Amino acid sequence: MRRLSGKVALITGAGNGLGAATAKLLAEEGAKVIATDIAYESVEKIVEEINKLSKESAIALKHDVSSKKEWLTVVEEGVKTFGPITVLVNNAGILATTKYDQLTYEKWQKAMDINAWGQFVGMQTVIPHMKEAGVGSIINVASIAAVNSSGGLTAYTASKGAVDAMSRAAAVELGEFNIRVNAVVPGTIQTQMLEEAFPTKEIKEASIASQPLKRMGRPIDVAHLVAYLASDESYFTSGTSQLIDGALNVDASSSAAKLT
Ligand SMILES: NC(=O)c1ccc[n+]([C@@H]2O[C@H](COP(=O)([O-])OP(=O)(O)OC[C@H]3O[C@@H](n4cnc5c(N)ncnc54)[C@H](O)[C@@H]3O)[C@@H](O)[C@H]2O)c1
Repeated sequence: MRRLSGKVALITGAGNGLGAATAKLLAEEGAKVIATDIAYESVEKIVEEINKLSKESAIALKHDVSSKKEWLTVVEEGVKTFGPITVLVNNAGILATTKYDQLTYEKWQKAMDINAWGQFVGMQTVIPHMKEAGVGSIINVASIAAVNSSGGLTAYTASKGAVDAMSRAAAVELGEFNIRVNAVVPGTIQTQMLEEAFPTKEIKEASIASQPLKRMGRPIDVAHLVAYLASDESYFTSGTSQLIDGALNVDASSSAAKLT
């Protein structure tokens, strides 16, 4: 039996980067996967790849995480296809880079709507199905920016700080229902989002050079951590913030790399 046999996992932002790697790995480990993304064509491609290896183990759904209405629709569709959702990976997110003095209400609110509210309303929608199943693991993707940010990222940092904090609050409130909640806190991981964060090749190279491990993380590295948190191996792990940053946060000499 594979590690995630019998689990039904909903993963948001599964069309690219960390979400795509996670959707593939969780399916490989035996989970049924509901892969959602605002970019339908991207997530459809990932699901085709998954189903080629493991027939009828994933579905792709178009989904804007900031919309409660869309959450209700994708959860209903997912449950109809695979049964009660027992793993939720709140991964979808946007990078919001604006200097402090140019930050507007609209820009602030967009980051909060997608990155923070999108994850909260996801938990709120999925929890009744986890209660029905009698078990659940929620994994919310925060960021090292919630711990230690660099300039121009106030709205992003605030939204990821909210993710980190609300994950702890939810873990306390949901423990009695056998639902575990953890935050994953990545450092610099090589994805499209990171390309946006590094405007020039030089800045990117400087960031790599300043990393203790002299490399960036790969989406699969984060996916392995998510798979552990989704599995019963993490039976007693709840309310934690799991840093996965190659020691970046504890390196006092490193500064240029703390971007996302
Ligand atoms: N890459 C990094 O270094 C890094 C570091 C820390 C945290 N993170 C977090 O990891 C998560 C994944 O990031 P990534 O690097 O894979 O990014 P990415 O840009 O490669 O992928 C993000 C995915 O989210 C989707 N998305 C964007 N807005 C959406 C919305 N409103 N509704 C649904 N889907 C939406 C995009 O279409 C895309 O497929 C994000 O929450 C990000 O903040 C990334």
